[in-house]
Amino acid sequence: MNNTKYKWWQKTIVYQIYPRSFKDSTGNGFGDIPGIIEKLDYLEDLGIETIWFSPFFTSPQQDHGYDIANFREIDPIYGTMESFDKLSKEIHDKGMKIVLDLVLNHTSIEHHWFKESASSKDNPKRDWYIWRDGKKPGGRKPPNNWKAILGGPAWSYYKNTDQWFYFHFLPFQPDLNYRNPEVKEEIFNIMRFWLDKGVDGFRLDILHTIFEDIELKNNPFSWTLTESDKKSASLFQHHKYDTNLPETYDFVLELRKLVEVYEPERFLVGEVFGTLKELRKYYGPDNNGLHMNFLFEFTSSALSFNPKKIVSTVSKIEQILPLPYTPTYLYGNHDRDRYISRLKDNIQKAKILTTLQLTLRGVPYIYYGEEIGMSNVKFKLRTSEDPIGRKFSKFPFPIISKLIGFSLTRDRCRTPMQWNAKNNTGFTPNPEVKPWLKISDNYKKNNVSNEEKNPESLLNCYKRLIEVRGDNISLQEGSFEFINLGKLNNKCIAYKRIHEKQELFVYLNFSGKEILLKTPKSNPELIFSTLSSRKKLDIDVLDGYINLNPLEGVIFK
Ligand code: GLC
Repeated sequence: MNNTKYKWWQKTIVYQIYPRSFKDSTGNGFGDIPGIIEKLDYLEDLGIETIWFSPFFTSPQQDHGYDIANFREIDPIYGTMESFDKLSKEIHDKGMKIVLDLVLNHTSIEHHWFKESASSKDNPKRDWYIWRDGKKPGGRKPPNNWKAILGGPAWSYYKNTDQWFYFHFLPFQPDLNYRNPEVKEEIFNIMRFWLDKGVDGFRLDILHTIFEDIELKNNPFSWTLTESDKKSASLFQHHKYDTNLPETYDFVLELRKLVEVYEPERFLVGEVFGTLKELRKYYGPDNNGLHMNFLFEFTSSALSFNPKKIVSTVSKIEQILPLPYTPTYLYGNHDRDRYISRLKDNIQKAKILTTLQLTLRGVPYIYYGEEIGMSNVKFKLRTSEDPIGRKFSKFPFPIISKLIGFSLTRDRCRTPMQWNAKNNTGFTPNPEVKPWLKISDNYKKNNVSNEEKNPESLLNCYKRLIEVRGDNISLQEGSFEFINLGKLNNKCIAYKRIHEKQELFVYLNFSGKEILLKTPKSNPELIFSTLSSRKKLDIDVLDGYINLNPLEGVIFK
């Protein structure tokens, strides 16, 4: 039984908006804040409580906003501070919450902090970034062997001062130096600035890379090409000295203290990479660090539709993050391939995974368009909008992308939201304009307007599930337990959610065949089926079995 007192953020549902692609209000082909405001009713109707926005701060947009040039201003592409205030007010008026994306690890090279820092060795901001001499003799080689996320040295040479600066991600994203107390204080003030404006939480971009070894020791060799949840290593390096440093775990405690003085309660969710055990440390020794972290297990193709692997992953998560820790469940985001493409666009399968996501113990994160079955779109690497795609265009790398579940160009998962079957899918009021990314060919079928009318649509399945979650306390606050189905464990997943006021069962049939299952209750009451037409569970009273149709998921009590 579970008697923990639950906070709003532990039972919320988060919807991620990539502002560039959600809704264009001006007709220039780029999504913007007024466009998002137009669509808040849609999100309210879907039942979403919390919206996380990928960054819309001032930025040269080399990484589409993850390269910030001013943390306290809105980029004119997206709107103004007035439009942000309006967005925030309308969200709160609807009883919903707003979460901003904070890129603390680095800035854009266009940020005035960096320009000052780069200007001379004795500039007061020199130490805001990480500058070092090159390797001796001659200084013509990077200071150590660290590799940037996409390979190649993580250092860039500046001739004017004959030194190198460090970047973990891309060369136009220099890392800030968190060992300098001025940097920390300024970043904390930026967080307070937005919290004072009423934002309800922050998503913290690549937080595991905030600190680096003070002596810049070389990373040891590792036989690992791509990052996984088993090892903190990639590109043949064990990331011992450039990620997940002990200082980071102290830093998150400071962040927690900073947000904790605010009422009503705010939350922090970390984008951190490492093993599940490493991730657990970000929750703090007494659950007093980040409120939650993204668990990326379900964004990988290895798990896509395999009940045994799913059960073993959830069991591991439950074991490492038991109550009162809050796990997260997500299938995609603006960096990852669309999950429905892994399912070959099979809507029935998507409904099973949606049922799973919305009934496991933890916070579900839905990436915009998942609810209508938006899938990957093909783009040429050479002309990709995403800087990663352009970088990869020089190499024949498709296998790597499959292995890591990352798109070689993230354009694939960032295409305009599909609102209706009209020209430009209703994304922009201008039917003639070319949207910043091409629209998926499937927009005529998979769009909000169509799916709203169809009771069997994926959209309506999300809606019904979100409603069921809202109506049943055990789905929000209950503890979690798998039910062993013996021989059927490789075809079905079954579990219960247990709360003192309610016990509820979730049964999911991953196979294409009808299955009979022993019912755990003599009189099960069906409260949800992925088949919207199904109204009750037929029980064979003699034997106490219920049937699940092929690829059907049910919830009953
Ligand atoms: C994170 C973001 C990604 C961005 C990178 C650098 O991984 O999710 O989109 O490019 O950090 O900020």
